[in-house]
Amino acid sequence: PVQAPLKSKKVLVTAGPTREKIDPVRYITNFSSGKMGYAIAEQARNLGAEVTLITGPVSIEPPPGVKVIHVESAQDMLNETIAQYESSDLVVKTAAVADYKPKIVSDRKIKKQEGDARIELERTKDILFELGKNKKHQVLVGFAAETDHVEEYAMRKLEKKNADMIVANNVAEEGSGFGTDTNKITIYKRDGQSISLPLMTKQEAAKTLLLEALKLLPKEEAE
Ligand code: PMT
Repeated sequence: PVQAPLKSKKVLVTAGPTREKIDPVRYITNFSSGKMGYAIAEQARNLGAEVTLITGPVSIEPPPGVKVIHVESAQDMLNETIAQYESSDLVVKTAAVADYKPKIVSDRKIKKQEGDARIELERTKDILFELGKNKKHQVLVGFAAETDHVEEYAMRKLEKKNADMIVANNVAEEGSGFGTDTNKITIYKRDGQSISLPLMTKQEAAKTLLLEALKLLPKEEAE
């Protein structure tokens, strides 16, 4: 039926920031509010999907009717995402995953000292890359948060991470990206097609990108 085009589909959404611990009282994170990912989870549910939302720490409420898994670090998010991957039909990676984490996590509070301090960072695993590498039947949608060269970087991510679709947002633009209730997205697909959308609410952007991703899902047998 038209009103539930994602019926019987399992949709996995990641949202929010991750938190990378420095010591028991400090961490590194970013400005993701979770709004974009939560909107995708809500709209996927409205379109009839069975939705799992893997979320970093945020202060907004998850939509009802969605299975929620709370995580903190990039490593936790990776583990939970891999665990849900096999059974998912569509995966949307909206989370702003930390690219770096402290190389050493102190189990005691680091005391302040005279002069400057340094924290050595190491790379986290790229979750989207791991999913792309192990992709079977899933449709894989990534995001790209850029401030410049948006198209070039988005196309590069599509290729490198073996995604089926990249949703780019220019996070330097007014009303777009982190924290806002609106977003201005461009959708890039593997066939070279791109769709630039005007500024709209994150709910509207979520529905639009889901309907585009739906076109990439295998067609149902005649009902
Ligand atoms: O949460 P909001 O306040 O509503 O803000 C929404 C948003 C700006 C966070 C969202 O729209 C967005 O752009 N999310 C992706 C942010 C990001 O990390 O972009 P990136 O260009 O650094 O990463 C590209 C892709 O790789 C993303 O799908 C990301 O989930 C993924 N990634 C990145 C690093 C990593 N270690 N693992 C990943 O899977």
